[in-house]
Amino acid sequence: MKLLISLVLVITATLRVNADWWQSGNFYQIYPRSFRDSDGDGIGDLNGVTEKLQYLKDVGFTAAWLSPIFKSPMADFGYDISDFYKIHPEYGTLEDFENMIKKAKEVGIKIILDFVPNHTSDENEWFKKSVDGDPKYKDYYIWHNGVIDPTTGQRKPPSNWLSAFRYSAWEWNDVRQQYYLHQFAIKQPDLNYRNPAVVEEMKNVMRFWLAKGISGFRIDACPFLFEVELDRNGLYADEPPVTSGCPDPDDYCHLQHIYTNDRPETFDMIYQWRELAESFKKENGSDTKILLTEAYTSFENMMKFYGDGTRKGSYVPFNFDFMGNVNKDSKAVDVVQNVNKWLNAMPKGKDFYPNWVLGNHDNKRLASRFGVERADLLNILLQTLPGNAVTYNGEELAMTDVFISWDQTVDPQACNANPNNFNDYSRDPARTPFQWDASPNAGFTEGSETWLPVAQDYKTKNVLMQERAPHSHLQIFKKLIRLRKEPSMQDINNLSIKAVDNVVIYSRYTQNSDRYVIILNFGKTDQSIDISAHFPTVRRVEVITTSIQSNYNDGEVIDATKFVAKGQVGTVVVQI
Ligand code: GLC
Ligand code: MG
Repeated sequence: MKLLISLVLVITATLRVNADWWQSGNFYQIYPRSFRDSDGDGIGDLNGVTEKLQYLKDVGFTAAWLSPIFKSPMADFGYDISDFYKIHPEYGTLEDFENMIKKAKEVGIKIILDFVPNHTSDENEWFKKSVDGDPKYKDYYIWHNGVIDPTTGQRKPPSNWLSAFRYSAWEWNDVRQQYYLHQFAIKQPDLNYRNPAVVEEMKNVMRFWLAKGISGFRIDACPFLFEVELDRNGLYADEPPVTSGCPDPDDYCHLQHIYTNDRPETFDMIYQWRELAESFKKENGSDTKILLTEAYTSFENMMKFYGDGTRKGSYVPFNFDFMGNVNKDSKAVDVVQNVNKWLNAMPKGKDFYPNWVLGNHDNKRLASRFGVERADLLNILLQTLPGNAVTYNGEELAMTDVFISWDQTVDPQACNANPNNFNDYSRDPARTPFQWDASPNAGFTEGSETWLPVAQDYKTKNVLMQERAPHSHLQIFKKLIRLRKEPSMQDINNLSIKAVDNVVIYSRYTQNSDRYVIILNFGKTDQSIDISAHFPTVRRVEVITTSIQSNYNDGEVIDATKFVAKGQVGTVVVQI
């Protein structure tokens, strides 16, 4: 028996030691344009990122993923790439990039780049050559003659497909005398993934950047990779409208995207990229090159991004199910249900990790969606659930959305809307410059202009202040990240979670380690809770960290039977 126990201990210890660098890691999304401007032009850049890598290390992040840094006319702020092998000049040079990688290695932060496979810029050489009918490139994109309207005799787009940014997804090209498909902006033509040359071309892009020492990719807009094939009359089928909820025929939500999204071939492509990442690692004896995938899709499909049982796919299929379902009206039971939903459905095994996301550059900021007073509560939730956490830059400070007037709006998705409703679509408010300190323009730039306005609250909400304050959003965040390194927090199979009225309560415990209990009050009123009624061994606890407006202090020792969970407050305690 004794032997068995020590064997088990050895095995668990080995498992811990063997955790790969990305497992239970914390990923930080940098929006480079808004992070730190090193040269005073009001636009963030790579040298700015390099300057701040130590900050990421100090907070405790594992890796940073950068929104696109490649050459781009910036119609969609870098998601329209005109040269996949060049750094966008406003952001720096290839040398700056190499410098950043070197510094990241010194500091101990992994760098992950955004891979945008679905489309290029219309200013990309590939597209220009495709327009000209160059034999190599003519089928790199989705071209079609369109159809003749029988009543008017006029030519019209091949199908009713819509752009995610509104209006037809087809654009007429005068030179080629055909329509091309663009599921996003007109300046973002879709690549043709049914052409093997395109598949190979994009794999070469991946190999190029992997060889430069990055640790993986965040893959953009995965559901859009493939469209249905032409039918036997050479036509693309129209998509059916939704039955309710989106009457505006130009709005993307008006159609059910059954022919342009989530085609079966998409998953195969993701699995091929996984194979590429794994072969790269094997051939070069490198660290694991990971894939994080962006897909707003059904829950079932999100699971398929992990793999299909035979082949593996994404290491981190962004958990947008959680982001979509947990909102300011969510009750404790909803939160618990959504946590369990992912944990129960995801594939099991040592290579599969859950992940939790509550924000990115495409959504309103967490503190604005839930209220600043609940920012700590949500950060505590994200950082204490098992698996990987993904944090959008600024959420660690509880930065909020900045109102951007119609005149100042630059996001193409909002520009396609109108002065009355653009704010519902605009992603600019979540993309304003990062707030470093109280100097002019928040220490984002030494220049006088910034590409988007700096939030007005920067003098009281910035890194420097929050680093100096004994209790701040950032201090709480730092404690949470440190805590994640504890064995009890690294074990992804030990979550015991429930809802008690408005409170979500869970424990994390692994043998020979500390037992943590997390108490989150999603309601507005205080609620007394006897922790020992749920976790019987827990009689006395010490507060590890708690929301700014908490009734408790870090380090305070409390009788666990008489815990008072203040409204909208989250607390992490350790059993003593
Ligand atoms: C992804 C990006 C978004 C971009 C779109 C088109 O959804 O996150 O910012 O606009 O793809 O590339
Ligand atoms: Mg700059």
